[in-house]
Formats: sequence, C-alpha cells, structure tokens
Amino acid sequence: LDMVTSRVEANGRVWAAARENPTAASIEVAAAFVVDHACDGIIAVGGGSCIDTAKAAAVLVAHGGPLKRWCGADRVPGSCFPVIAIPTTAGSGSECNWHVSVLDEEAATKRTIRSVHCCPVAAILDPALLSTLPAKQAAASGIDALAHALEAFTSCEADPLSDALMLAAMKLIGGNLARFVEDRGDVAAGHAQLLGAALAGIGVCHARTGLVHAMARPAVGRLGIPHGVCVGLLLPAVADFNLSACESKYRDSARALGIGNAAEDLVSWLAEFRSSYLEDAAAGLDLPTGVYTTAAAEAVRDPGASERNPRKASYEDVIALYRAGFSVSESAQRVTATDAPLEDGRDALNALHSGASA
Ligand SMILES: [Fe+2]
Repeated sequence: LDMVTSRVEANGRVWAAARENPTAASIEVAAAFVVDHACDGIIAVGGGSCIDTAKAAAVLVAHGGPLKRWCGADRVPGSCFPVIAIPTTAGSGSECNWHVSVLDEEAATKRTIRSVHCCPVAAILDPALLSTLPAKQAAASGIDALAHALEAFTSCEADPLSDALMLAAMKLIGGNLARFVEDRGDVAAGHAQLLGAALAGIGVCHARTGLVHAMARPAVGRLGIPHGVCVGLLLPAVADFNLSACESKYRDSARALGIGNAAEDLVSWLAEFRSSYLEDAAAGLDLPTGVYTTAAAEAVRDPGASERNPRKASYEDVIALYRAGFSVSESAQRVTATDAPLEDGRDALNALHSGASA
C-alpha cells in the first residue's frame, strides 16, 4: 500500500476508510471524497470490499444516488467514473467483473448492482501485493474464488463460455490454493490464485452463483463476518447436498482441481480445507436460533437457491445446511432435511411471504 500511495500522493489524494462489507453510507462518503477533491478517477487498492466501494462510488459520482436505485440487473444507465483496480487479495474477482456487492444494513443482507458499466477500466494483478496477506484472509478469499468457480460451473444458467472460464479457474486454483495459504510470498502460487480468482469473477457475471452465496448473503449481514469466511464454512455442506444433482460436473471439477477423479473427492477436499483453515472461525460465532431461521427464510427465496442451484433446497434443508456449515464438528457436515425444522422459522417464512419484515 505504501508503495502505491507514495506514488499517488504527489498528484492525488488517498482515502483509506473503506470498510469490510461496504454499506450505502460508507460508499456515499467515498463518493463525496472523490467529488470534493475533483478527482479524475479512482485507483482501488485492496480486497473485494475496497474495490466494490470504488465501483459503487463510481456509480454515484456519475449518476447520483441513492445507491439502492441502481441495485439489481442493468439499472445503471451509462458509463461510470473510471476505476483502476489493484487487488491485494485473490478472491472476489471484483477487479475484473461488473458486479458490486453492497450491505443493506436495514435488511441485514447483501444487495448487488449488476451492470456492464461497473467493470473497472483496468486491473493490475501483481502477486507481490499479496505477500503480506494474513493466512486466514488468504484462505477465506481463496475459497471464495473457488466457490465462484464451482457454483457458476454447476449453475442452471451455465453456458459453454462460463464453463470454459470456470474450468480454467479451477485448474489455476486447485494446485495453488493450499500452497498460497501456507506461503503468501510464493509468487507463482499467488499469481495463479490472482488469475484464477479473476477468471472466476468474470464467469460469475455470466452464470451467477448458487445456494452457497444465497445463504451467505443474509448470514454475513447478521453475523458480521467476512464474506469469504462465511462462504468457506458453508461450501462443504452445500457441495455434499448438491452432489447427487451434478455428479458429472463435480467429477470434472475434481479433475480440473487435480484432487481426484470422483465427485466425492471434491466434497472431501472441501471439507478438509474447511477443517484445516476455516473451522476455528465457526467456533467464535454467536448463533442464536433466530439467525438461522430468518436468514434461511430469505436465502430460500434468493434466485441463487430457487433458480440457479442444481438441487432445489427447501427451508428445512437450508436450516440444516446452516447448522452444518457453522458447526465446529466435521461430522455435522453431512446433513439431511430431517435434521432441522424449527417452529419460529415457519413464522419468519410466513411473515416474508405475507410481505412483513422478518
Ligand atoms: Fe463470493
């Protein structure tokens, strides 16, 4: 960061207040900074939240607010303020795609702006910038990139273009993710991770994501945890749930990742990765029952779950998957729909269906 800011400071201004899971309020502050200093463009140096802050601020500078006006598909009317993205994590792929995630604090969920006008004008992928990344962040962002690749590859909206991108992403990530987490100074592994995350990020714009991200959106807001951690905790349980519906694509994924020849090899590998690098994040979570029930009511209605996921998930399935995903016991990751139902969750679901807030 110092290397970049020292070069920028002579002719620009540094704003270093981007927050994790950016909100409309935090993005408005960033946009006001850009306007107040009569900037010519934004150079976003950071992780996915930082780059999304810049992309969303670029929408506000070009088209005004409020931000929620632009949430959804193809609502941004034209070109945005220019953004150059320099990622310092390898995960979101935001530096190369046209999706922007914004935390809606009132509804405690993530919203997305999806518009081709939100794509940065340039991205600089430099593995040297990953060398000081903490191992836990490397694991969380890396597994998020893999989740993008897997979910888009098995999406009901997948097409030959997204399949090609996702298989290429998995080939890059598979042999390098654990190596990179163990040594973030490994330039070759970091380079592969950056490229894999970028390809997965582009592919996600075509085929979108499935149940893992549908469940992560409401959970991240309620639990206040990083997106990648949430995704990585949920991924093995959801992969196990989906296995019967996309066996051949999971087999192709295992081969692309270089971890085996069977669909089950993929699920086992994901569980092992979670256990090795992410499970302690679940141990610290405070999970009142209401978190599962209200989040599940929202997740099950997300198109990622209801339309794109290869296997349809019921409300009870989603609660069981939250329980398995946030469990600290590996054995709890294999779930069935009969594990779950909770009475107050029915109330939450009914409230949503009737239009009341849950
Ligand atoms: Fe993600």
